[in-house]
Amino acid sequence: MKGIVFTEFLDLVEEKFGLEMVDKIINDSNLDSGGVYTSVGTYKFSEMLQLLQHLSENTDISIDNLLLVYAEHFFSVLEKSYPGLLASYSDPIEMLSSIENHIHIEVRKIYPDAELPTFEVVEKSKNSLTLIYKSSRAMHHFGLGLMNKTFEHFNAKATILLEKLKEDGTEVRFTINKK
Ligand code: HEM
Repeated sequence: MKGIVFTEFLDLVEEKFGLEMVDKIINDSNLDSGGVYTSVGTYKFSEMLQLLQHLSENTDISIDNLLLVYAEHFFSVLEKSYPGLLASYSDPIEMLSSIENHIHIEVRKIYPDAELPTFEVVEKSKNSLTLIYKSSRAMHHFGLGLMNKTFEHFNAKATILLEKLKEDGTEVRFTINKK
């Protein structure tokens, strides 16, 4: 997992819960990195999972809800860091249907070792989209948060239904309807 995901996560934890919480979740975890991350480095996904688990235990917020809120913050990081990529879209359905064949392809050019999910388009119309998310990391709520912010970015609204196709969350169907 890319360092930017860790550095932005710990920044948000500090902002919302304070520096003591950052220290606490790092000390509670067993991290090869020692909890020291640079935005261009690459670290084990298991480190993120431990940080999330300990934050969840200390705050009583579920990992899914933590990932949802984190993704909403991460979207603004993407807006700032990759303005050109977002500017190539004028519609949220178009953008979300292009994660697999455009957006994450560009991401892979920047970070060849990125660990990305797949988003298969199974149905698409002007105002609706069905996507199948697959990833061993089961970060579907991170996806949901990015989708929410994608609609907000285009001043649009939608209902997004998330259905787990596998209980462990490694395969999820998103049914998106623009209002
Ligand atoms: C992961 C970039 C848009 C869904 C990531 C990662 C990067 C990235 C750098 C981390 C990879 C790693 O740590 O190895 C971008 C950029 C985008 C974009 C630059 C647009 C400008 C989106 C959108 C979605 C999405 C719109 C919507 C669903 C995800 C998910 C992950 C991810 C769910 C977590 C990894 C996983 O589930 O396996 N993306 N992304 N991304 N991205 Fe994107």
